[in-house]
Amino acid sequence: MNRNSSRSDTLIHQFDTVLRTLVPHAAQASRSSPATPEVHDDPMDEEECRHAAGLMRINHTGEVCAQALYQGQGLTAKLSAVRSQMREAAREEIDHLAWCDERLEELHDRPSLLNPLFYAASFGIGAVAGGVGDRLSLGLVSATEQQMGRHLEEHLVELPSADRRSRAVLRQMAIDEAHHAQLALEAGGARFPAPVKFGMSLMAKVMTKSVYRV
Ligand SMILES: [Fe+2]
Ligand SMILES: [Fe+2]
Repeated sequence: MNRNSSRSDTLIHQFDTVLRTLVPHAAQASRSSPATPEVHDDPMDEEECRHAAGLMRINHTGEVCAQALYQGQGLTAKLSAVRSQMREAAREEIDHLAWCDERLEELHDRPSLLNPLFYAASFGIGAVAGGVGDRLSLGLVSATEQQMGRHLEEHLVELPSADRRSRAVLRQMAIDEAHHAQLALEAGGARFPAPVKFGMSLMAKVMTKSVYRV
């Protein structure tokens, strides 16, 4: 009975997380957005707004993937310390998700229609890595966070110079992702060999190319 109820609790929690991640405006940030009312954009034309929204849509999908990855790992990780660390990190990623969502709305745009697809793929990768072992699982977190960090740095350069509000969000996200990457390595994450990292960056390219517009 207890086992059944804890299993159904887990299922309900998982389902709740899926909805909060995929339904626009459902994610609740615990920290307010770094794009505070004091941060103002310079005027942007239609093309600049569209470009900024495309980049923020990519970042939003990146956060959807992070949520799914942490969820998948949390489900199969062997050590409870790792499991709770994954949950804690996933909670921090919710802030990023909500901030990107808010910014997309300000730019009169929407999250990617492909998000359910990327959620499912990332959840699967996370669950497999968690099942294989904590060292691989934490290594995957670290490598993913480093990759996110590189994307954020590129986007900080690519954003229209007038877009100060998106930039404020991305700067804080870059600080947080670097911290997550470091934590995962310190917790015993494996350093991935170059070919694995290359495969990951190819996958990220597919994501960024498709999500920029769709
Ligand atoms: Fe994040
Ligand atoms: Fe992160």
